[in-house]
Amino acid sequence: MPRIPFNKPSTVGKENEYVAEAIASGQIAGSGPFAAWCQQLLEQRYSIQKVLLTHSCTAALEMAALLCEVETGDEVIMPSYTFVSTANAFVLRGAQPCFVDIRPDTLNIDEKLIEDAINERTKVIVAVHYAGVGCEMDEIMRLADKYDLYVIEDAAQALDAKYRGRPLGTFGQLGCFSFHETKNLVSGEGGALAVNCAEFADAADIIHQKGTNRKQFLRGEVDKYTWVGVGSSCAPSEITAAFLYGQLQQQDAVQAARMKLWCTYHQALADLEQAGCLVRPHWPEYCCHNAHIYYILAADFPERQALIEHLAEHDIAATFHYVPLHTSPMGLKLGYQSGQLPVTEDVSQRIVRLPLYFELTEAEVLRVVEAVREFYQG
Ligand SMILES: Cc1ncc(COP(=O)(O)O)c(C=O)c1O
Repeated sequence: MPRIPFNKPSTVGKENEYVAEAIASGQIAGSGPFAAWCQQLLEQRYSIQKVLLTHSCTAALEMAALLCEVETGDEVIMPSYTFVSTANAFVLRGAQPCFVDIRPDTLNIDEKLIEDAINERTKVIVAVHYAGVGCEMDEIMRLADKYDLYVIEDAAQALDAKYRGRPLGTFGQLGCFSFHETKNLVSGEGGALAVNCAEFADAADIIHQKGTNRKQFLRGEVDKYTWVGVGSSCAPSEITAAFLYGQLQQQDAVQAARMKLWCTYHQALADLEQAGCLVRPHWPEYCCHNAHIYYILAADFPERQALIEHLAEHDIAATFHYVPLHTSPMGLKLGYQSGQLPVTEDVSQRIVRLPLYFELTEAEVLRVVEAVREFYQG
């Protein structure tokens, strides 16, 4: 039987045509028409004041850290169960990540533990929406308001997901999305920054444009552009933006296909959860997830490893996820120790992500489920 990879990025619409168009136009550097069309689609679909396309979610997070003027001595609250970029964006500015444990049900930062982590050095709370399930944004925004903190949403995995009917990435002052090849919509590498407050709009343009007022120049507001502040090269090329435009136009079809596959996993594994073999994803009923990841939790680390091996023997690529940042070599260097965040450490040892991508078929999902069933029930 053919191997089922863990992920497979696909073209889903007119990507090839648009890339060819970008090349033929003679403008393949960043911030051209395809970038503008992508930004417009995202702004309209999610009612975002301003979207800037970036070459990665990492770049969007780094822009967010610059916009919030995070600096040496500041602390930034975030989960340890996340990708390195969530922390690196702030460590690059000299700040200390303050890692908070996660909830065992949603695997998101435990909002009940945030207030105790706030002190006079705290500047930002980063809400990472794991697997496209929303963090408890009501409580996070309440705390941010009470202590005058910024909220940055790491919505790398959360495009098109909602919390109480509102799109993730639109709650904090800034929201960061990813179009990396593992995400629901892809452009190889790619990302976007949602600028949700007017206060940051002009500064975001300057950072995005390498520290220049090129945006003002393009709007005809100044007769030349020059260095006006700190910035970086954040825009993707038009080749990347053209590819992404093809994906964005097919967003509903991609989401529908992923959701169908996700629900097939969820239904087909229900009896194994009832029998106490594994734990399926759980989410509050007021969160609409976006079918980004289908994961299960095994009983413990040895069982997780054995399950991944068993699936590999059946030509199915399943995988674990984050190594908690506080137990990574860099986390230890920052002064953390293992044992400090028990839920994070437990979950990271038990999680298995199953294959999920646009071209996966229902039959393949059922083949994965049967292999999982064979592992548990023989
Ligand atoms: C939670 C989270 N944040 C940030 C990133 C970084 O995204 P990118 O690869 O687009 O820089 C990822 C990537 O997987 C992620 O999962």
